[in-house]
This record gives sequence, structure tokens and C-alpha cells, in this order.
Amino acid sequence: MHLPLAVDRGASLKPYNTFGLPAVARTLVRITSEADVRKVVDSPEFGRARKFILGGGSNLVLTQDVDLCVLKIEIMGKRLLETRDDAFIVELGAGESWHEAVAWTLDQGLPGLENMALIPGTVGASPVQNIGAYGVELQDRLESVDVVDLTTGRTVTLGVDRCHFAYRDSVFKHELAGKTVITKVRLRLPRPWKPLLGYLELERKIAETCITQPDARQIFDWICEIRRAKLPDPAVIGNAGSFFKNPVVTAEQCRDIIGRDPEIVHYPLPDGSFKLAAGWLIDACGWKGKSIGRAGVYEKQALVLVNRGGAIGAEVLTLARAIQESVYGRFGIRLEPEPVVV
Ligand code: EPU
Repeated sequence: MHLPLAVDRGASLKPYNTFGLPAVARTLVRITSEADVRKVVDSPEFGRARKFILGGGSNLVLTQDVDLCVLKIEIMGKRLLETRDDAFIVELGAGESWHEAVAWTLDQGLPGLENMALIPGTVGASPVQNIGAYGVELQDRLESVDVVDLTTGRTVTLGVDRCHFAYRDSVFKHELAGKTVITKVRLRLPRPWKPLLGYLELERKIAETCITQPDARQIFDWICEIRRAKLPDPAVIGNAGSFFKNPVVTAEQCRDIIGRDPEIVHYPLPDGSFKLAAGWLIDACGWKGKSIGRAGVYEKQALVLVNRGGAIGAEVLTLARAIQESVYGRFGIRLEPEPVVV
């Protein structure tokens, strides 16, 4: 049966970005299956148009109306695909909510994603920025990704090596941006399961509760508590999670900064460089709780910019630039935004 594509003209994107920023898409096409992607490719109207792929809109700053053809990914599905000796493989539709998918795996008795609970956004967006939290990144759990090529309409399965993952980065932000649609994500949950408790905040939970051998469900609950205590719920206060990446500096630069600011939060990386906590840098510049116009810096985590109500994208960018300038002025470090700016 050939159903027509679901197309909205002049669609408001405000409900589809977690910052709650206003913008209008000239055309928005709802994609509920791989077949829909192929219909777009074959369509005389949309086939050759430039595309913008929209997932949960949780890593997005909209500064203007969008003249591109917006493909809103709503492909659903969750199943245990395979049980191997060393791992469970689960297959998830790109339009599924990431957090609900994590909760579902635990309900099925398939642990391994619990440290990444409550990350906003969709499953399809998770490889794009290589989401990560509390010691696990998507690249540590990815088996493969199905993508449909927007020129040929062909489906290709990409293994982890072809995704070129790096910290909050992947091939989908570069060579493949706007050229492919992620339709399915397969995750590998290692067996036997091992808890990852290396983060200070998790160690604190163990000390507080005296639960020294938490199961995956317990870790999931702790992660939800930790995140709720310091990150704003996008359903209540518009935001896009961490607004800047944590900068990486050389050992020499790090020593230099420590010389001036001994308190600076820094983590050694395997290659000898150091990752600095961007939230600490912004906080040290006095930005926590401050605002420019209707855009502000969250009171409990300076790395998160928030919409104080009715903000437009330009206000968010003005605030972001002011923060970048003061961090550069004081520490000589350029902060790089994490979300995609349109
Ligand atoms: N800090 C401050 N002041 C602040 C914020 C942080 O001093 O206002 C200090 C904290 O005390 C802590 C350090 O900076 O010592 C790091 O803070 P936190 O543990 O909150 O982690 P983060 O580096 O700010 C990163 C990710 C988060 C992820 C957490 C936990 C990035 C850009 N952010 O935040 O991811 O949840 O670690 O793993 O890598 C996201 O990407 O949207 C996101 C929320």
C-alpha cells in the first residue's frame, strides 16, 4: 500500500526543540519507516532539496526559520535481536526516546545502559554526538547503525569503526551530516554485566546508602537522582544539556592554569593531555545564575544554558559568546559549543 508522506507546511519547531526556541520549518516531513525515507528520496519535491534531520531536538539551538526540508524521525521499535555468549544485542528504532529505551532494557533484564539514564533525546540522535555520562559513552555500547543514503535511497549498516567516534563527535556531524538518515541503532550490552561506579557522585551514593554492590536498577535510580538534582528538566525549563564541550588542553597548558588557579577541575587523558571541566571555568568567571535577556546560566550547573521564558535563539547565542569571551579572557581557553546551531 502506498501511503502518502505526512508533510506539514509552515510547521512550528518550538515544540520540537528542548530549548523551546521559536522557529518555523517551511516543510516538515514525518518519517515513520525506512520506506518513508525512500519516498522522500524519490519525491520530485523533496528528493533534491537540502535536508535537516530532526530527532528529539535536545541538542539544537534554533536561531532562525528553517528553509531546509526537515525530516522528523519517528521510527519506532525495540527488540532483543540476539543473545550471544558475551553480549545481548538490542535493536532500537531511531525515533524511540533514549531514556525510555534505557528503562525498557532494564525491564527486559538487559543491563548495561544504566549510567546513561535520563539523557534527553532520541535513540537516532545518540550516535550523532556520541552521548555519554558517568563513565560510559555510546561508542562503548554500539554494535551498528542502519542509515539510509539520501541520494541513493539505499540502506547501509555501519559498524562502530565507520562512525569515527570521538568525544561528543562522530561522522554524522561531519561527512554524513544531512546526507543520511539513521533509522535503526543496535546496541551491545556486554555479558557478564559489570557495574561502573568510578564517578565521585556514584561513590557518594554508595557511602550514603551503604549499598556496596548495587544492581543495574539501583544504578539507574541513582543516576536519575544525580541528574535531576543538578540538570534542569527540559519539560519545565528549556535547555539543551551541556552547552559547551569540556575543553582538552596540553599538560603544559594545564600546569600553567593550575599555577594560577589551583582549584581547577581537571582529568588526565590516556594521551597525556587533560580535560578541563567547562562548568567549573564558567562558574569561576561568575556566570552561574546570570542572564542576558531571557537566556540564562542554570543556577545548579554553569555548563547548562537555559531559556528563562520566551527566549529567542539570538539571545542564547549572545549569552554563549559573552561566556566564551570571559573564559578566554581569564583562562586563554576557547569553549566550543556542543549543540548544533541552525
Ligand atoms: N562544576 C563547577 N561548577 C559548575 C559545574 C560544574 O565547579 O557550575 C564542576 C563540578 O563540581 C565537577 C566538574 O565541574 O567537579 C564536572 O561537573 P559535572 O560532574 O557536572 O560534569 P560535566 O563535565 O559538567 C559532563 C557531561 C555531561 C554528563 C556529565 C556526567 C559534557 C559536555 N558534559 O558534564 O553530559 O552528564 O559529565 O558524566 O561532557 C551533556 O552532554 O549534555 C551532558 C549533560
